[in-house]
Amino acid sequence: MSSYKEQIDKARLPQHIAIIMDGNGRWAKKLGNQRIFGHQNGVTSVREATEAAAELGVKFLTLYAFSTENWNRPKEEVSALMALLVKTIEDETPTLAKNNVKLITIGDTSRMPAETAKRLQQCIDQTAHNTGLCLVLALSYSSRWEITEAVKNMVQDSIDQKLHIEEIDENTISNYLTTKQIPDPELLIRTSGEYRISNFLLWQIAYTELYFTDVLWPDFKKEDLYQAIVNYQSRERRFGKTSEQVTQ
Ligand code: IPE
Ligand code: IPE
Ligand code: MG
Repeated sequence: MSSYKEQIDKARLPQHIAIIMDGNGRWAKKLGNQRIFGHQNGVTSVREATEAAAELGVKFLTLYAFSTENWNRPKEEVSALMALLVKTIEDETPTLAKNNVKLITIGDTSRMPAETAKRLQQCIDQTAHNTGLCLVLALSYSSRWEITEAVKNMVQDSIDQKLHIEEIDENTISNYLTTKQIPDPELLIRTSGEYRISNFLLWQIAYTELYFTDVLWPDFKKEDLYQAIVNYQSRERRFGKTSEQVTQ
């Protein structure tokens, strides 16, 4: 069987792919291990997805790594995850730098332990000038948090006369979100057989193609990403128009 990679039409690549990386805990449990073992093994899949996206020439890859709601997990899991996150990012930064990958984060990093946030910022600074793939890590992120912040900032700017109500349109709102420099994703992937969005990029995925797979995140390999892209390319994106209109 030919690889999914060969079936990808390079001329119609999504510019931005977003992934809800789910299923680490279940993957570990299946093997009779602790949940954190699943998170540790999920790192390999992060590397696979990042490399595959960079090799293909995808411009933005957004990975949902830790949600606002994940702060409510048991204390031990949260601190293990924070430690794993910062260690992984530090370990990978030289490779990211070498491969021209720029790392940025979206989310409320003020909730992270100060030392973790500081180390993370140092990695971000080291890749800031890179011009290849932009790897966006959603950390302590949720869409409702982001929209709430945007509304607060808009109201403040309106009070300060920097924003005028009659000028507000959809672009204005996009520009108040943490993703203001990033185009909306064309493709959103969620692993582990869950069919929900879990507070991720609600505004930005208005017309995104959704792809769900039963593969648990630590089992996700390059070929799984290629398969998702091939599936995406088989779809007709109509944006409210008729099929006849978009194929002409
Ligand atoms: C995704 O895996 C990683 C994070 C949310 C941090 P989970 O930890 O949610 O794994 P499951 O869903 O319990 O299997
Ligand atoms: C969503 O996964 C968040 C991340 C992948 C970081 P969860 O496993 O936390 O989602 P729910 O709560 O089961 O929907
Ligand atoms: Mg989960």
